[in-house]
Amino acid sequence: MLTISGLSKRYGETVALDRATISFRAGTVHTILGENGSGKSTLVKLLSGIVLPDAGEITFEGRPVTARNPAAFQAAGFATAFQEVLIAPDRSVTDNILLGLDGLFTRRIPRGQRRDRAAAVLAQFARTPIDLDAPAGSLPLAAQQLVVLARAVARGPRVLILDEITAALDFADRESVFAFMRQRAGAGGLILFITHRMDEVMALSDDISVLRSGRVVVTQTREVSTPAGLLRLMAPQTAQEMEAHHA
Ligand SMILES: Nc1ncnc2c1ncn2[C@@H]1O[C@H](COP(=O)(O)OP(=O)(O)O)[C@@H](O)[C@H]1O
Ligand SMILES: [Mg+2]
Repeated sequence: MLTISGLSKRYGETVALDRATISFRAGTVHTILGENGSGKSTLVKLLSGIVLPDAGEITFEGRPVTARNPAAFQAAGFATAFQEVLIAPDRSVTDNILLGLDGLFTRRIPRGQRRDRAAAVLAQFARTPIDLDAPAGSLPLAAQQLVVLARAVARGPRVLILDEITAALDFADRESVFAFMRQRAGAGGLILFITHRMDEVMALSDDISVLRSGRVVVTQTREVSTPAGLLRLMAPQTAQEMEAHHA
């Protein structure tokens, strides 16, 4: 459904992503696993038009993606919930969720339907009740993460990219977000799930790519993956120390 090939991005001396090549299958949750600084968010930003690659190609449904900015990626069917929670703090929860559907200055959804639309999106995965009229900036971080996820979901994307969005969620919300992701993948979408948490990887993934120092060290199915094996690929040093400790 989606392939990246030879995708590279450097910031000054730092090679954030080094010739990354991955094929993503439709109808899957594809996890990107890697330690802090391994290049996960750089990949996310390249697949959102936030940053441009120094080299490499993106192909979506057989066609090269020539989009060069966030609006063009959205139009192509991509939606991203970024790691940094981006909300308009003084605008209502409803406004924040519909921000991607309405234009910045124009409203395409009739006033009377806005609240219901926002509520319907949230109801797909949020267990914690969220006041739709509250300024989004007044909510706890976990609720803000759900709002950011709702904004991405509201666009009905073919490719939904989630960058460490479960970090602040409580147990009930996390479980229901996971169930939602499985259901979306089951319906034929592609979910790119970015995490550094092994328990989440094993619970959710169909396919797993491990990033280390900007390099894709493996892409494999969950069936052939074990937490110990993934840890060795992700952080060989840590894995060695743990094995020595247990020996
Ligand atoms: N805007 C930037 N300017 C300079 N260096 C950056 C920038 N963004 C990311 N980096 C560097 O690129 C590397 C990969 O970062 P990132 O993609 O955020 O990793 P991850 O999301 O896996 O933690 C890190 O070394 C990080 O410090
Ligand atoms: Mg990151």
